[in-house]
Amino acid sequence: MAMELEEGFIVAASCIGFISVCKAFINFVRWVWVMFLRSPKNLKDYGSWAIVTGSAQGIGKVLALELASKGLNLVLIDKNHSALEATSNEIHEEFGGRVEIKNMVIDLAKLSGKEIANAIEDGIRGLDVGVLINNAGIGYPYARFFHEVDLELMENIIKVNLGAVTWVTRVVLPGMLKKKKGAILNISSNSSQLPSFPLYTLYSTTKAYISMFSRCISLEYKQQGIDIQCQIPFFVATSLTKHLRGLSWFMSSPEKFSKASVRWIGYEPVCNPYWWHSVQWFILRVASPDELLNAIIYWICIRVRKRGQMKEAQSKKMHQQENAS
Ligand SMILES: NC(=O)c1ccc[n+]([C@@H]2O[C@H](COP(=O)([O-])OP(=O)(O)OC[C@H]3O[C@@H](n4cnc5c(N)ncnc54)[C@H](OP(=O)(O)O)[C@@H]3O)[C@@H](O)[C@H]2O)c1
Repeated sequence: MAMELEEGFIVAASCIGFISVCKAFINFVRWVWVMFLRSPKNLKDYGSWAIVTGSAQGIGKVLALELASKGLNLVLIDKNHSALEATSNEIHEEFGGRVEIKNMVIDLAKLSGKEIANAIEDGIRGLDVGVLINNAGIGYPYARFFHEVDLELMENIIKVNLGAVTWVTRVVLPGMLKKKKGAILNISSNSSQLPSFPLYTLYSTTKAYISMFSRCISLEYKQQGIDIQCQIPFFVATSLTKHLRGLSWFMSSPEKFSKASVRWIGYEPVCNPYWWHSVQWFILRVASPDELLNAIIYWICIRVRKRGQMKEAQSKKMHQQENAS
């Protein structure tokens, strides 16, 4: 009887082990498929124009170049007129007359939600907008405690990271609903998916809003032919992360990230499109306990804050010396 029980136990444990290994193997094969082998959607099927917010530099600029390479006409939105002009000239130089570009200078932090909606509604009237990328976003110059974030920066982060995504999506949706197709990509951040991201509290919290917002509206509009997705990148080497260059091992280039990002448009509602970010996510989230992760992130962010404060003090001192001489 005891022998039979022991054998039964061994068989059950082996079955569970076998199923777990099969599951892990299937997940791995699926990961390879979606990361490297799955065909991207033909974005022109959604419509001939794409809107990219925050497209004068960083990820937005490279996303715009990537979309232009797919033959999409572009509505570029950013707050800096000359930087936007430089980006659209660069795209024109690379793709010649193959794509049309419309620049819209809008400061998403200065206008009210309704003003943003009206400006964009006027700007895209008559255009067949198929793709919207809500990319514009702002963060802190360096890590800081919540009470140290100055009030203007606080307001701007809430308006750009959270308000603008909501209003721009709201104004573009009716056109997509009319033709029963469209794709919306909202750029969130992996900081919002970790158990915590202290000293970047406001930034990561606004990004968590984007994830939830996207997941909800993705379900609301899926049946109407509109594919809504939230991407959650880890670190990308742009001006947003220039104070984090010590973490360069984790960074991807905006080019590599954007190539992967565009390949995923129209698929899963939430994704981490770049393979190296996805590996980092697995190591951090799946393989590390929350307590350990919280302690490591807090330790890193405190160091980033200290370094940022030192640099700020140095540049203030240099400024004062320049003014005195
Ligand atoms: N870089 C990363 O590691 C990382 C990681 C996760 C998520 N993300 C997200 O990815 C997106 C792009 O980030 P990025 O790294 O490319 O940042 P970036 O290099 O700072 O570029 C952001 C762009 O948005 C524009 N922008 C900022 N405030 C604006 C406003 N009020 N109105 C209109 N445009 C405005 C910026 O214009 P100016 O240059 O004139 O300020 C810039 O062109 C953001 O949503 C960010 O949160 C980035």
